[in-house]
Amino acid sequence: MRLLTLLLALLATAPALANPFPAGDPKIGKTLHDKSCVSCHASMVGGDGSALYSRLERKVKTPQQLLARIRTCNANAGANWFPEEEIHVAAYLNQQYYHFK
Ligand code: HEC
Repeated sequence: MRLLTLLLALLATAPALANPFPAGDPKIGKTLHDKSCVSCHASMVGGDGSALYSRLERKVKTPQQLLARIRTCNANAGANWFPEEEIHVAAYLNQQYYHFK
């Protein structure tokens, strides 16, 4: 019985441990993202631009690459985000599209 409790506790904490961006708040990230990032991506792939993140041949393969790409696009977009804000956006894009553990 104790073992079962332990296993259940482990299962319950696993998703939190697996999150590569624990300091990020996806809700804040979505607001930032929708304000600065959608129009350019949408002009590239149509719709709301999110096809860029979910297409089969997408470029980003790891959490590190995701953050690096966000930094590059942040600079290109002139959004002037702070590093914490980049993490919020990474948390949002990961939760919504990339699902890195
Ligand atoms: C001026 C246009 C432009 C703006 C603004 C822009 N991006 Fe991008 N984004 C691109 C281009 C170009 C690519 C690369 C597409 C490719 O490699 O095929 C890209 C790719 C990406 C990818 C990788 C997609 C993949 O292949 O997995 C992410 C993540 C991303 N952008 C995030 C952002 C974020 C976050 C912002 C808001 C700060 C943003 N972008 C704003 C042009 C832009």
